[in-house]
Amino acid sequence: MNRAAPIIALLLVLGGCQRYATPGETHDGGGAPQTIALGSQSMTLPTETVVLPASAEIISTNCTACHSAELILTQPKLKPEQWAAEVTKMRTAYKAAIAESDDPKLVAALVALQGGAAR
Ligand code: HEC
Repeated sequence: MNRAAPIIALLLVLGGCQRYATPGETHDGGGAPQTIALGSQSMTLPTETVVLPASAEIISTNCTACHSAELILTQPKLKPEQWAAEVTKMRTAYKAAIAESDDPKLVAALVALQGGAAR
């Protein structure tokens, strides 16, 4: 067997391990902090035109961090227990920071906002 074969094979393997520098990366032998240039972008969001009434302040406080007023106002009429389940779902599934003690007031406000409960 050719005595150079294992060496050539090793060189081929090592050749595949070559590490390429990414842009902005420094080569200081490690240890020193690297400089990363962070950037920002701007975008224009649509202007909110739909607002909740002042009487629904508890809903604004607890729901509009994640939802538009429109999402709240365009739901079908629900029964109080369905709203309660919805609020619980927001807390458990989506980690909404809603105090459980506010649930009855929220449910009442959601029902009132819809002009009464579904039957
Ligand atoms: C931490 C963020 C967060 C908060 C706060 C929050 N929600 Fe949600 N909500 C979500 C996510 C995420 C979804 C699922 C995606 C979607 O439909 O927008 C959702 C979905 C919904 C839906 C659509 C039906 C469903 O179950 O998926 C309704 C209705 C709703 N939320 C009502 C509310 C109400 C009322 C409140 C206030 C009591 C509230 N949400 C607070 C995150 C939140």
